[in-house]
Amino acid sequence: MNNVKTTRTVDEHVQHVRTIFDDITPSYDLLNRIMSARRDVRWRRRLAGRIDSDAGRIIDIAAGTGDQAIEVLRHVPHAGLFCLDFVPRMLDIARMKALKSGLEDRIDFCIGDATGIPFADNSFDASVIAFGLRNIPDKARALKEMIRVVKPGGKVLCLEMSFPENLGFRGFFSWYLNRMIPFIGGLISRNRAAYRYLPNSIQGFLRPEQMTDLFRQAGLTEVRKLRLTSGIAHIHEGIVR
Ligand SMILES: C[S@@+](CC[C@H](N)C(=O)[O-])C[C@H]1O[C@@H](n2cnc3c(N)ncnc32)[C@H](O)[C@@H]1O
Repeated sequence: MNNVKTTRTVDEHVQHVRTIFDDITPSYDLLNRIMSARRDVRWRRRLAGRIDSDAGRIIDIAAGTGDQAIEVLRHVPHAGLFCLDFVPRMLDIARMKALKSGLEDRIDFCIGDATGIPFADNSFDASVIAFGLRNIPDKARALKEMIRVVKPGGKVLCLEMSFPENLGFRGFFSWYLNRMIPFIGGLISRNRAAYRYLPNSIQGFLRPEQMTDLFRQAGLTEVRKLRLTSGIAHIHEGIVR
């Protein structure tokens, strides 16, 4: 359940993650587009399409620079959305992008930790997290929080990276993750260590079937996983009882 592989304590790991995302904020969006060859845009659209179009209130956990939030708001025309993240600089960019997209009246921002979401039970129709869960050591707790704040019948969704099943593609993907990403990421962000953390966080993350188990164990029903781009990413979803 815990993907901390160094000798860091959980608190030190959380602080390390926070420092990394604070440091790479300015180049985060550009590098996402380059490194995923823009696939992340399609994946975010798929996730947004899984939310009921009549949802009223949605929360995006570990929202970062707001790309997933903006895609959700485009898809769910009457919804209001809260972005929660523990790195204020990431949310500053999200705020600017929301303004540019004319969505500022439908979006709000909240600095906070995914393992203690500062909202009452049953506050939202859906909660989403994109590329966030693998950075959180206590995944079960974060998921429990995402469930707690959603009304019964609402949806919990997670978009995450995974490893392709095909052995040939798997080899290529592993090479790309471990060689190319630190190289490209280091060049553009000037923080090679951050882009060494990224492959490690993907390699240490739960497999899709383990995510399904996690969702079921957390009490969600109608748990499903959707495979994206030959299995290099998955959407996991479930309904709150
Ligand atoms: C890879 S980025 C994903 C950002 C955004 N969801 C996206 O789709 O681009 C991971 C984000 O998770 C945030 N994060 C990591 N751990 C967190 C935690 N425990 N609580 C809140 N935010 C967290 C980081 O600050 C960062 O903005």
